[in-house]
Amino acid sequence: MSDKLIVIEKRVYIKTFGCQMNEHDSEWMLALLEECGYQETKRWEEADVILVNTCTVREKPEQKAYSIVGRFQQLKENNHDAIIGIAGCVAQQRGEGLLARMPTLDFVLGPGKIHKLPEILRDVKSGERGVCAVGFENGCPTNLPIPRTRQLRSYVTIMQGCDNFCSYCIVPAVRGRECSRPSDEVLAEIDALVQRGTKEVILLGQNVNSYAKNNPGELTFPRLLAKIDEIPGLERIRFTTSHPKDLTEELIEAFGTLEHLCEHFHLPFQAGSNAVLERMHRGHTREEYLAKIRALRKAAPQISITADVMVGFPGEDDDDFTQTLELVQAVEFDGFFSFKYSPRQGTRSAQWQDDVPPELKQWRLATLQELQREITLKKNKKLEGTVKEVLVEGRSRNSPHTMMGRTGCNRIVNFPGESGLVGELVLVKINEGLQNSLRGELSR
Ligand code: 5AD
Ligand code: SF4
Repeated sequence: MSDKLIVIEKRVYIKTFGCQMNEHDSEWMLALLEECGYQETKRWEEADVILVNTCTVREKPEQKAYSIVGRFQQLKENNHDAIIGIAGCVAQQRGEGLLARMPTLDFVLGPGKIHKLPEILRDVKSGERGVCAVGFENGCPTNLPIPRTRQLRSYVTIMQGCDNFCSYCIVPAVRGRECSRPSDEVLAEIDALVQRGTKEVILLGQNVNSYAKNNPGELTFPRLLAKIDEIPGLERIRFTTSHPKDLTEELIEAFGTLEHLCEHFHLPFQAGSNAVLERMHRGHTREEYLAKIRALRKAAPQISITADVMVGFPGEDDDDFTQTLELVQAVEFDGFFSFKYSPRQGTRSAQWQDDVPPELKQWRLATLQELQREITLKKNKKLEGTVKEVLVEGRSRNSPHTMMGRTGCNRIVNFPGESGLVGELVLVKINEGLQNSLRGELSR
């Protein structure tokens, strides 16, 4: 008889909806499962464990998550031992209700309980049905493993939760109160990532620029950036998301002084009308927003600016919407994420009438996006003939001899090259500005 060790492979498939915080949570869950002997699979049909990491910030991704869980439930017909769990913000918000709604679901895991995943799988495997772990413990869950795979670009959570309570937003309910990680822990994590090959970090938090506001004696966000900037071997620093009301002069100045801080700022404005901003409880006016943009461009003239914006908030009339269009025209964003408002149960605005008809929301969204498409293309074309520093990420999807990378201002660049360039910072001459990317050639 062969004494060959039989390795029983356990495969996990993770489907992620929502923002970069959620993507990073999925990385954490995968790292925890890898420690328990699981391997990731990209094919849900062959998985032993399926995890759907959900988002509830808008109605659409929530509905998509339900329908995909429905589809995955077929897996149980062929593999009775398969385990299916829902994680993320829908898990946090709906909790036990999900188990009642979807009888084949094995567990529900909120974003504040990720560290419990191995324990939960053990319980499910030993026969426990319908395990539900939601809620938050004191402090941030910090000591989660970092992903094993070598990553050129790595997410690093610096804070979690949100204290702002914008009237439309479910995040404070599902991600809890603001809580910042100690800076020494953040710095040690980045150091470890750089040792493993990371060249770019993306600092994550619902509101990174109020980092450590409740931790007296801790570094401010700009001072944390300055410390990160000194880490040898780290080439690029990015962060998201910021709130205009907490954007300080100290942070704006950092763009003129820190060597590795990428010249890109994601600054959601949500609406262009002060009346709407007030009902949204945003804590800033249109004028204040515009002043911050001017200050950023003064400190870093090349900075690219992106945002989040919504249309169809309760009571948004034609004049309010025109003001949103005017703000977009005035700022000339490099790009933005735009959404149709959808009421989220438990938020303040959900008590108000969702009075902008769906067709009008759709028309406003399309009008706004069309305006931005023109601006984006114009800005991309303006870059033709310039030389940009690009961090090479891999082969382009369309051609094996074309490489893909990103500029400091977060634009995708494709250029002829070989895979030995992956991980390198190269200079690329931009030959063509397209709608969603740039094309160029190595500049020698
Ligand atoms: N409806 C539509 N969009 C929303 N967002 C947040 N809440 C809602 C909602 N109820 C958008 C905001 C936010 C982004 C993450 O999602 O623009 O910045
Ligand atoms: Fe979605 Fe917001 Fe949760 Fe991110 S934090 S997953 S955007 S609800």
